[in-house]
Amino acid sequence: MNITETHATAIINNLIVSYSDEGPVEAPVVIFVHGFPLNKSMWNFQLEALKDEFRVIAYDVRGHGDSDPGNEDFSVDLFSNDLISFMDSLEIRKPVVCGLSMGGYILINAIGKFPERFDALILSDTQCIADTPEVRANRLNSIEYIKKNGLNDYAHESIKNLFAPMSLLTKDTEIASVREMIVNTSRQSIYNSLNALANRKDTSDILSHIKIPVLILVGSEDKITPPEMAESMHKKIAGSQLNIVEHAGHLSNMENPFEFNYQIRKFIASVY
Ligand code: MLT
Repeated sequence: MNITETHATAIINNLIVSYSDEGPVEAPVVIFVHGFPLNKSMWNFQLEALKDEFRVIAYDVRGHGDSDPGNEDFSVDLFSNDLISFMDSLEIRKPVVCGLSMGGYILINAIGKFPERFDALILSDTQCIADTPEVRANRLNSIEYIKKNGLNDYAHESIKNLFAPMSLLTKDTEIASVREMIVNTSRQSIYNSLNALANRKDTSDILSHIKIPVLILVGSEDKITPPEMAESMHKKIAGSQLNIVEHAGHLSNMENPFEFNYQIRKFIASVY
């Protein structure tokens, strides 16, 4: 039997969480966790391409997309507790999880606390270090920038860093979709997430304790979490695989979905 719930909702921790859930019920489950300040639709290429082989689920992290923000201060720790509650609400015990950038921060945090809840991990365009004082200051400057200039300008500036130079010239549809995701996120949620990202802890120690299969992917031209950061995580996670996604910047899953999906398929086939 196939599941095709593209606008489903779950109530977890007193929040409405929006998600898509597609594919055969009995197939391996893959849960996708998006980056900041995006939402589940960044995974459309993956859900569409992989739904015949896997049960593919993408959800909106609180305050993003169509998920409620709730009343608590945002933190990566809170986001990872939400993920576990979300899995519980769908009665999913041990999925494969795939997170890009902020999604990766959430997954490393979750696996540190609940290592027995995951079968395999895909870390894409992410890192394990905390913000340097300079990056932290930039986040606080971004809050001031948005207050002064608004989300359209913020989206315009962000897009320049999110995509590889060639993608900026050729990927009009993807760029438009990212712009829409950013401008449709509430300002308050963006401020709260920027604070959560600025306050997140270094997770290097967690990596050396990971015992499940791990695939690390990174766009060859990722300026935000460059390949050296992926290489450093690869060295810390025993037995992990690292693949560079060519012709891609920070949003490697959107910029080169063919290669990204190929790597996911190959990895999951090696896990089960
Ligand atoms: C993301 O894509 O989630 C963000 O770039 C993460 C970050 O700014 O650290």
